Amino acid sequence: MGKLQIHDLSQSFTRDDGSELTVLDHLNIEVQDKEFVCILGSSGCGKTTLLRLIAGLDTARSGTILLDGEEMKGPSSKVGFVFQEYSLFPWRSVIDNVVFGLEMKGIGKDERYRIAERYLELVNLTQFRANYPAELSGGMRQRVAVARALALDPVLLLMDEPFGALDAQTRNMLQIELLEIWEKTKKTIIFITHSVDEAVFLSDRIIVLTPRPGCLCHIVPINLPRPRDRTSTEFAQVRRHVLDLINQKCSIQ
Ligand SMILES: Nc1ncnc2c1ncn2[C@@H]1O[C@H](COP(=O)(O)OP(=O)(O)OP(=O)(O)O)[C@@H](O)[C@H]1O
Ligand SMILES: [Mg+2]
Repeated sequence: MGKLQIHDLSQSFTRDDGSELTVLDHLNIEVQDKEFVCILGSSGCGKTTLLRLIAGLDTARSGTILLDGEEMKGPSSKVGFVFQEYSLFPWRSVIDNVVFGLEMKGIGKDERYRIAERYLELVNLTQFRANYPAELSGGMRQRVAVARALALDPVLLLMDEPFGALDAQTRNMLQIELLEIWEKTKKTIIFITHSVDEAVFLSDRIIVLTPRPGCLCHIVPINLPRPRDRTSTEFAQVRRHVLDLINQKCSIQ
């Protein structure tokens, strides 16, 4: 299972001068089990803030976050996170990065390496298990980060612009790989991106947030059959529709 319910979520930060910066304002989002949702929103609207709250890395000013009906209070192994920046431990080899969470969870050595090998195979990096992050390309590093997040077998995978720093070709390839992994593992995925093309290619539904403070602006179901062909007329029409919506006033207040 992996159904997420966000009710009336607000977050604010105190500025140096003592004033409050409201980042998320009474946000309500529901994500179904095994759904792939992309979130679009302008820079600074609160996307990373939202993911950090879902992951239990920060505490919200108000509101609730329920995963399968249970309130999330603090980090949980039910939630995996792939961060916006490359976040591997540079002093650990690829496989030792993947076993990290399993080690923290107290899983025995043989078992954790067995699990890590399985996920390295899933992201096609078995050959690089002994390499260090500095020896990998950006795309490979993000694949290790995906394997590390999946190794704990979360029900919900949060991905914060994971492919944002990559060239277009690598990015397209990783999108296809991610969809294959999603088909195989059937996780609920919340994926943040600035690319409408990426969101239309990946998601069951796109959630568009307003500029800060982030509120719900549009929810767009993407009903294109999979596998999707980004060169098709239908794909171009949906992409155009989403771009038009982004430029319109919000439909959800
Ligand atoms: N810990 C913090 N303390 C103070 N302000 C913060 C903190 N974290 C985020 N902010 C502020 O909250 C706002 C939203 O930040 P956030 O990182 O969530 O944006 P974002 O939507 O992820 O942007 P981007 O697309 O550029 O990654 C920004 O104005 C940021 O400066
Ligand atoms: Mg961000």
